[in-house]
Amino acid sequence: MTNQRKEAAARLNVLRQEISAHDHAYYVLDQPQITDYEYDQLFAELIALEQQFPDLVAPDSPSQRVGGTPLEKFEKLEHRTPMLSLQNTYSPEEVRAFAERVSHLLDGPRPVEFFCEPKLDGLALELIYEEGSLRRAITRGDGSVGEDVTSNIKTIKAIPLRLTSPSPPKLLEVRGEVLMFKESFRRLNEWQEENGLPAFANPRNAAAGSVRQLDSKITAQRQLHFFAYAVGVVEGPSLSSQHQLLESFHRWGLPTVTADLTCLAPHVDEAIAYYVALEGRRHQLPFEIDGTVIKVNSFEQQRQLGMVARSPRWATAAKFKPEEAQTKIVDIVVQVGRTGALTPVAVMEPVKVGGVTVTHATLHNQDEVERKDVRVGDTVIIHRAGDVIPEVVRVVTEKRPPKAKPFTLPPNCPVCGEPTERAEGEAVSRCTNSLCAAILKGSLRHFVSRRAMNIDKLGEKLVDQLVDAGLVTCFSDLYRLNADSLLSLERQGQKSSANILASIENSRKPTLNRFIYALGIRFVGEQTAKSLALRFGSIESFLNASEEELLSIDDVGPVVAGAIVAALKRKSFVKEVHRLIESGLKVQSTSRPRDGAKLPLEGLNIVVTGTLPLGRDEVKDLITSMGGKSASSVSKKTHYVLAGEEAGSKLDKARELGVPVIGWEQFQALLKN
Ligand code: IVH
Repeated sequence: MTNQRKEAAARLNVLRQEISAHDHAYYVLDQPQITDYEYDQLFAELIALEQQFPDLVAPDSPSQRVGGTPLEKFEKLEHRTPMLSLQNTYSPEEVRAFAERVSHLLDGPRPVEFFCEPKLDGLALELIYEEGSLRRAITRGDGSVGEDVTSNIKTIKAIPLRLTSPSPPKLLEVRGEVLMFKESFRRLNEWQEENGLPAFANPRNAAAGSVRQLDSKITAQRQLHFFAYAVGVVEGPSLSSQHQLLESFHRWGLPTVTADLTCLAPHVDEAIAYYVALEGRRHQLPFEIDGTVIKVNSFEQQRQLGMVARSPRWATAAKFKPEEAQTKIVDIVVQVGRTGALTPVAVMEPVKVGGVTVTHATLHNQDEVERKDVRVGDTVIIHRAGDVIPEVVRVVTEKRPPKAKPFTLPPNCPVCGEPTERAEGEAVSRCTNSLCAAILKGSLRHFVSRRAMNIDKLGEKLVDQLVDAGLVTCFSDLYRLNADSLLSLERQGQKSSANILASIENSRKPTLNRFIYALGIRFVGEQTAKSLALRFGSIESFLNASEEELLSIDDVGPVVAGAIVAALKRKSFVKEVHRLIESGLKVQSTSRPRDGAKLPLEGLNIVVTGTLPLGRDEVKDLITSMGGKSASSVSKKTHYVLAGEEAGSKLDKARELGVPVIGWEQFQALLKN
């Protein structure tokens, strides 16, 4: 080995370990130790070195997380020991009966302890670690044979490519669940619908669909998570209980649900109390669960109990009440979105599901309507999962009125009357009229939205009024509005007009990433907008981007690049950007500090609470752009709590943990550092 190679190999080793440790801190512990910028620097160094010495790329290098060449199909692999299923129980009484069966079968002097966990509603997966290194990831499949999804699973940052323990087990088969958090699911579906792609029915389907992608680059873009809860074959350590197993997972750097979500129950009464309490908490959790799994804690007792059919006798899945309800469809209306996409929406007789009254359910598109054969007048079963828009599960056909007719989307746009079009291979029909009021209204709503230009006083109703009155025909018209034009609208007074104008005024200095996102280019979500801003730095250089330059960006593939190039070629698009700039918009260029230069908030974790002079998102943006991190909850790792007026429980938490609380002025002082 040449000296240069040796040095590279050593440096690569250090980089891999450091990056893995930061991934763990960020994705598993939720306690980042460095800024995104510093992380990116480490990663860039790793990639550069590996490009120089391709044969030094280890299979467990963090660079392997970005996804590789698409597969033709997944290979089938057999599980060394079968992945079992669980027998269900549906009430405290049934759980008690389960516990009695267990005690009866064991019939020993030792009392039976139970370990209770959430029943995670995702996709079961087996991870195989050899000598501490992730070798394979296999889906559960039918329990005996699953699919090899290793390259997809490597893109999930919460899953360690190497176990952290200095003396890892020789062989460790970890079993757990891949999940998509509710928030990521909501965003993914928004994105799918905006881009004319079919929406996922629930987070579980979204997680499963993402894991079973033949193109791992797509999996890499989905935000997936993983929690470990069981083992297959283990060589090395001896484990004596479920409780101890979860602690060992933690030591090995494997993510598990937090301890406050589990319970070691010395008696079945505690297990039942946990089951009832967890059902009450299910909607507050960031991911979906559909029950609790109650397991005999001792592995010795588990062995004595054994299994029956394909389920262990030592565990039960105590399920929650389903979140389904029956109601009647009174109408099907058609909404037109900002990309012109037509979405059929069922209007229903109000009904309570999971404690919330619902009246609307999305039917997604024509194919979905046909697949479920949903008609006006039908009685349907609807499902509402968490905070997600309710869905029609199925029609109760026995209750269908004799004259109910099948539903078809209209051939013309219900808003402007122009013909609609359904491109080949797409699920969605679109209005073809770029001047359609619905498209304009949708684009404006996106433009002013909180995560885009954040013009918070311009609500949906006002946007509609402005378009209907002909006062706004494009984004830049917003910046030409004055008090007179606003006062000409119905129900607009002096005070609210002044507030609206002030809120427009406040949006005149957007960051480049927000501005690019606000423009609403097809397929360009927030994340892509950030990458574009980082790559091009200024709006001028973004407007001159070539397809080649776009493709050189990590999360930009041919489809996204194509959509951007198409937008940049459209004269009306470029002209509108220029009009925005001419109307006084000052887009803030994205600058990176010179090598070695420090940003004022570098290394600081700041939690924001209460009402501040800037909006919550703007403050968070400011913190990140100055090198800091802003988490949503206070922990020991928080450096400061920035508190505005009416700050609530976060303030108490800060006091409890002794975290310094600062006000707006002290925060400004920090920025000047
Ligand atoms: S233990 C033999 N623990 O439930 C039991 N399973 O019906 C091995 N699941 O396929 C699994 N949360 O997908 C276990 N905390 C948990 C779980 C859990 C969800 C799923 C898993 C399994 C299914 C069994």
